[in-house]
Amino acid sequence: MSRILVTGSADGLGRAAADSLLSAGHEVVVHARNGERAAGLDTLVGRGAQLVVGDFTDRDAVRRIAAELNDAAPLDAVIHNAGVWSGSAVMPVNIIAPYLLTALLRGPRRLVYLSSSSHFGGKPFLDGIDWRGTSAGSYADSKLFVTTLAAAVARLRPEVLSNAVDPGWVPTKMGGPGAPDDLELGHRTQEWLAASNDSPALTTGGYWYHRERQQPHQAVHDEEFQDRLLQALAEDTGTAL
Ligand SMILES: NC(=O)c1ccc[n+]([C@@H]2O[C@H](COP(=O)([O-])OP(=O)(O)OC[C@H]3O[C@@H](n4cnc5c(N)ncnc54)[C@H](OP(=O)(O)O)[C@@H]3O)[C@@H](O)[C@H]2O)c1
Repeated sequence: MSRILVTGSADGLGRAAADSLLSAGHEVVVHARNGERAAGLDTLVGRGAQLVVGDFTDRDAVRRIAAELNDAAPLDAVIHNAGVWSGSAVMPVNIIAPYLLTALLRGPRRLVYLSSSSHFGGKPFLDGIDWRGTSAGSYADSKLFVTTLAAAVARLRPEVLSNAVDPGWVPTKMGGPGAPDDLELGHRTQEWLAASNDSPALTTGGYWYHRERQQPHQAVHDEEFQDRLLQALAEDTGTAL
């Protein structure tokens, strides 16, 4: 049994992953942006999930959640799932929050970051990126950055298994009702990488789609780009990895 945080678990893929990890007997920490959204997690909390609450557009809330979790039983794994498609929250939620949690949380040996095939459209340029979200951010860029973060963590923390997952285009609030891919398959790879002891799940530095390792954007494994990204994130947040 593992203890696993799933961010953004009030809805969609995060909720589905939290639900099935609980059913499989794991200890799950669920996360919602505020009290109203947390109320929708009552059934999972009733089945034993621990709850943390905080809006990921607020860096202080992300830091508070990390501190709360560092004071609780150690986590084995984190699924960095919370995400938004458009608007000013894109950089804060899709890359700053997972970066801060990665830097601040002590203990987890498995990290899974939600990427997207959209990351192939991202640009590996860091100048002028509005990390604080005072203007709309590019989803494709944010997913290129978080996929690169996953690969950088795999390189810099050899004791940790760090992977990125493209869940496919699936029918959630984000994906929309007409999304063509399989919702069930959309969360299985994250659960498998977070908790399974199957040997393919015990690798690091991968970019996965439906349990198959694929080749990401070429910038993802460019160590110089990884270092520049980490430096930009450290400078902007004041927190080094
Ligand atoms: N669906 C797809 O086709 C698809 C494809 C590729 C990648 N992905 C990725 O998969 C992940 C899950 O997406 P999904 O499809 O399940 O989307 P979703 O149904 O919209 O769920 C996103 C989750 O993130 C949470 N979230 C958003 N903004 C937040 C904030 N400011 N603070 C805290 N939590 C916040 C949402 O909370 P609320 O419910 O309160 O909004 C929700 O729980 C995302 O990272 C997404 O980019 C999805």
